[in-house]
Amino acid sequence: MKYFRSGVAVLMAGLAVSLVAPLAQAAPSAASVQRADIKMPIQNHIDAFGGKSGVKALINTFVGYVAADPHINYYFAHTNIKALKYNLTQQVCEVVGGPCTYTGPTMTAAHKGLHVTTAAFNYLAQDMIKAMDQRDIAKPAQNYLLAQLAAMEPQIVTANGPLG
Ligand code: HEM
Repeated sequence: MKYFRSGVAVLMAGLAVSLVAPLAQAAPSAASVQRADIKMPIQNHIDAFGGKSGVKALINTFVGYVAADPHINYYFAHTNIKALKYNLTQQVCEVVGGPCTYTGPTMTAAHKGLHVTTAAFNYLAQDMIKAMDQRDIAKPAQNYLLAQLAAMEPQIVTANGPLG
């Protein structure tokens, strides 16, 4: 039963990502910010996230869930968590239209050699959904951020695992 439940969870996370993935192929509009890792036009959802301080709180919750997630936490064993939280806050704040500029490494550079699988990506997406639910972020804003994250998947996933 436990296996079944976690199988369903993986499927649902995969579904969430694949449902939003087609959006990621939308042609960039003139208004879009052409940073290397932001593939979609940026829309303004910052208020739904509670401003920059809300994003910071969300990232704290999210990193807490990732750290407690036995499916993926080993990836972060040697990571500088303070720097990760700072960079993630800037990045998420920027892609949800907030007054922030991400200055960290490209997604390709940050994840090079980590052998991130699709399954790991989907577990991380699920931890983000859990964190957004916990922080009561409205579903349209959640789906928008998930679409932005899904658009970064090709730069992050570099390995195949047993689930693909
Ligand atoms: C769309 C999803 C993701 C985003 C937006 C993202 C974002 C980032 C960012 C901004 C950094 C740079 C942090 C820094 O240098 O301070 C980073 C590093 C890292 N990411 Fe991701 N990431 C994503 C998915 C994943 C996944 C699925 C994994 C593995 C399960 C992962 C594992 C890592 C690790 C281990 C590092 C640290 C690398 C190092 O210590 O140099 N990331 N990520």
